[in-house]
Amino acid sequence: MTDVKPGTVYIVGVGPGDPDLMTIRAKKIIDAADLIIYTGSLLGDDGFRDLKPTAKLVDSAGLHLQQIVDLMTSAARDGQVVARVHDGDPAIFGALSEQAAPLEAAGIPFEVVPGVTAAFAAAAALKAELTIPELAQTVILTRVEGRTPVPDGEKLRDLARHGATLVLYLSIVLIDRVARESGIAAALAGSQQSGANGYRVRLEKAPFDGMVSFLSLLTQHNGVVVESAAVDATDNSGIVNATLVLHKV
Ligand SMILES: C[S@@+](CC[C@H](N)C(=O)[O-])C[C@H]1O[C@@H](n2cnc3c(N)ncnc32)[C@H](O)[C@@H]1O
Repeated sequence: MTDVKPGTVYIVGVGPGDPDLMTIRAKKIIDAADLIIYTGSLLGDDGFRDLKPTAKLVDSAGLHLQQIVDLMTSAARDGQVVARVHDGDPAIFGALSEQAAPLEAAGIPFEVVPGVTAAFAAAAALKAELTIPELAQTVILTRVEGRTPVPDGEKLRDLARHGATLVLYLSIVLIDRVARESGIAAALAGSQQSGANGYRVRLEKAPFDGMVSFLSLLTQHNGVVVESAAVDATDNSGIVNATLVLHKV
C-alpha cells in the first residue's frame, strides 16, 4: 500500500459516478486531502462524506486551466495533499496532459490514479463483452467529431470501417452524426435480417442519478433495434451523459 504524501498533487479518476466504483486508493487520497478540486456534481455527496473536517472543496466548473494549476501548485508548495478529481479515468478525455505538463514544469510531485472508465462501466451495465469471439477482437475508444476536431484518419467513418467494437464518449448529443458516419443508417436500409453492414446500437449509462430515457430519440432517428434498456443521465448543465457501445452486426 502506498502512502498519501504531503506536498503532492494526485490526479484521481473516480469512476462513472457511483462511489462504490471508486478504487480504494482514490478514496484514501480524497479522504486524506486538504484541497479537493472536482468537476461538478460528479460523485454527489456520498463520494465526499469522509473528508477531513478542514478539507477545502473547490468545484472546477468555471475555473480556467491556469487557475486550477495555480491552486494546485500553491497548495502543494504549502505541503498540502491535493486531489484533482476526474470522472472515469483521467487518461480518457480527462485533460490529463494539460494539467500534468505545468505541474511537471513547476517541479510539483504528482501521481495519476486510474479509475473505472465509462467504457467499462457501460459494458458492465450492458452485461456485454467488448471483445466477442469471431465478431470483434479490437475495441476503439473514441468520440464523434463535434466542436472539438478529430485528427485525420480518426473520423468515425474511417474507424467504423474496421468493424471493431466502437465505444463513443461525448457523442450522444450528436447521435445523428454517429448514425450517419458509423453506418447505422446503412444497416437499416439493409434491414435487420440481412444483418450486414452496420452496427447494432446499445445505449447505456453507468450508475448515476437523474435518469432520462433516450430510447425514443434513437428509435425515432434511426429505427435501430436497441438491444437493452437504454437509459441516460443528465448532468447539472443539462448535457446528456451517456456512452454508446456499438457492436458490428
Ligand atoms: C469528458 S468525458 C470524460 C470521460 C472519463 N474520463 C472516463 O474515463 O469515463 C465525458 C464522457 O464520458 C462518458 N461518461 C462519463 N460518465 C458517464 C456515466 N456515468 N455514464 C455514461 N457515460 C459516462 C460520457 O460519454 C461523457 O460524455
